[in-house]
Amino acid sequence: MSADADRKFFDLFMVVLAALVGISVLIWVISDRISDGTQKQYLAETAEYQAEIADRIAPVGRVRLPGEAAAAEAAVQAVPEPVATELTGAQVYNANCGACHTNGIGGAPKIGDGDAWVARAAQGLETLRGHAVNGYQGDAGYMPAKGGNVGLSDDEVHRAVDYMLAESGQ
Ligand code: HEC
Repeated sequence: MSADADRKFFDLFMVVLAALVGISVLIWVISDRISDGTQKQYLAETAEYQAEIADRIAPVGRVRLPGEAAAAEAAVQAVPEPVATELTGAQVYNANCGACHTNGIGGAPKIGDGDAWVARAAQGLETLRGHAVNGYQGDAGYMPAKGGNVGLSDDEVHRAVDYMLAESGQ
């Protein structure tokens, strides 16, 4: 290749290079203009954006020091102490006695079966209650004290007996 051809190539190359640089600058200027209107407001430097972030990452709860916001504290209603509730006869029966007495398991007199309860009721309420609380070994089988749940109070067992008798027409 001659030196002339080299020069021609070089000139053309420089023209193309200049054009590319020009286009790059043009793109940069245009994008900067556009971002002025769209992106700047979201830049991390703006106070508004910072406030939005602080709001999003704020902890759910906050420790309140004594004396702080006393009014808010006073507004919180005092939660009443849970009251130990006694179970009703039906509740005690369903949870502790029905396992045997609903279907007559192990010789247990069935609830609702009047015939099975007539002779037992004849012993008197105190005797029945006593057998239920303290346990009872009869001819039919073994009745565990309090139906096996020593957590029941005597009164609760008494109510269960009353419930069983009432349900059995006694
Ligand atoms: C593991 C089975 C079982 C459970 C649970 C059970 N019983 Fe019984 N119960 C029996 C049996 C068996 C008899 C019959 C005993 C006999 O007369 O030979 C009986 C008898 C009784 C009698 C009649 C006692 C008498 O003197 O004739 C009463 C009242 C009674 N149960 C109340 C209860 C109550 C109240 C509960 C629940 C707190 C309960 N039972 C839970 C098995 C059970």
